[in-house]
Amino acid sequence: MDLEQMLASVPLFAVLDARTVRRLAQQAVRRSYAAGATIVEQGETGTALYVIASGRVRVEHRDGAERHGLNELGRGDFFGELALIENRPRSASVVALEETECLLFVVWEFRALLKEHPEMAIPIMNALIERLHRAEH
Ligand code: CMP
Repeated sequence: MDLEQMLASVPLFAVLDARTVRRLAQQAVRRSYAAGATIVEQGETGTALYVIASGRVRVEHRDGAERHGLNELGRGDFFGELALIENRPRSASVVALEETECLLFVVWEFRALLKEHPEMAIPIMNALIERLHRAEH
């Protein structure tokens, strides 16, 4: 599967037309992380949105030395959107559980995309609802 097909299969981008997905494939920055590497650090300023191309990550909340696992995400999932939407520090840390490859979209690209395609709010909202349900149970 090439990058364009991979992106088109990601629920976040499924609402976009083929031309936009092609543009996204050109903008994406591929980055690999070894198992145990911290991809996003809680409290830091957000500079990009991450889509998982392969591998698995754990989202965790850090309170001093204590770490509390919030969720695990895999291929096709995205993270790092909150800091970009809210303009606030990262709400959690994200750690690679295994060798993981992510596609990064820098903040201004993501914001421009959201402005041009407000229908992207729907998969983002769905992800937030799923997290809310998880938190409740
Ligand atoms: P952001 O706050 O930018 O950086 C940390 C990311 O972890 C956050 O965006 C979300 O994408 C993700 N995240 C935070 N809380 C949860 C959760 N409960 N379940 C899944 N992902 C989460």
